[in-house]
Amino acid sequence: MLTIFENIKHIALEIDKAIKEEDLGYSDRCNATGDTQLKLDVASDAIIEHTLKSNRLVGTIISEEKEDVMQVHPDGKYTVCYDPLDGSSIVDVNLSVGSIFGIYEGDELSGETLVAAAYVVYGPRLELVTVTRGEPVHHYKCDRSGLFTSQCDIYLNEKGKLNAPGGTQKNWSATHKSFIDSLFAEGYRLRYSGGMVPDLHQILLKGGGLFSYPGTSDKPDGKLRVLFEVLPFALIFEAAGGEAVDERGRRLLEIDSGHHHATSPCFFGSKYEISKMREAYGIA
Ligand code: AHG
Ligand code: MN
Ligand code: MN
Repeated sequence: MLTIFENIKHIALEIDKAIKEEDLGYSDRCNATGDTQLKLDVASDAIIEHTLKSNRLVGTIISEEKEDVMQVHPDGKYTVCYDPLDGSSIVDVNLSVGSIFGIYEGDELSGETLVAAAYVVYGPRLELVTVTRGEPVHHYKCDRSGLFTSQCDIYLNEKGKLNAPGGTQKNWSATHKSFIDSLFAEGYRLRYSGGMVPDLHQILLKGGGLFSYPGTSDKPDGKLRVLFEVLPFALIFEAAGGEAVDERGRRLLEIDSGHHHATSPCFFGSKYEISKMREAYGIA
């Protein structure tokens, strides 16, 4: 596992460099979810593929930017599922973006086999957050020499102050709208950039709050992908003392992961906001 985290540090430095130096324009390709790929999506995917191929522990890789599963080492113990560049739509305006990794043991992919997760934030600073199941959430900042130095572990408070509501409001259900309005009425502040990595990172570092991406009338299963986006953050939020549930209030780590490009509605928060969500949605 540690060697995969070391690979991710190398990947972080390479993608950070690519973001700063390479062409940000569109490629002429679409990914499996139908998004037009940026040249940077393709370049980031290539950096990760190349780096993980050097690690014999990695059996299989599954990327948001690849239609198919890719076998890497037949005896490799882990499957690494990743979103190479999260927040492609905001990279051109110089907002923070990220990479997300879910490390699964074997090739049965579910919340149960997810043994570790990590994400990288490419912002004014380069930061890394990692978790191994059963352990605290570690946080690193990259210094000028390219070394990742350890910061305090991340723990959420019982209740936060931030509200990051995803999806197009006109397509929200009435239940969801009144839930989000109720948080604002309680004094929660809007913090939403359109990149789940910086939005969730902000909630984690500021001690709590809610990030939601519900099912909407145009996207009943939400937008965020189970294997690359939803489950890795669910492991991180639970390890930090928060909760991560779907719109039926089930732990995201227990949902059926479905096809490898499947999506799920998702709610990540501290305990208080998730209990409010259950109340608003009428979940016992
Ligand atoms: P990606 O760039 O990998 O396609 O992911 C973008 C995601 C996620 O980062 C963000 O939370 C969400 O899209 C924003 O969607 P909306 O613009 O619909 O709120
Ligand atoms: Mn993404
Ligand atoms: Mn992406």
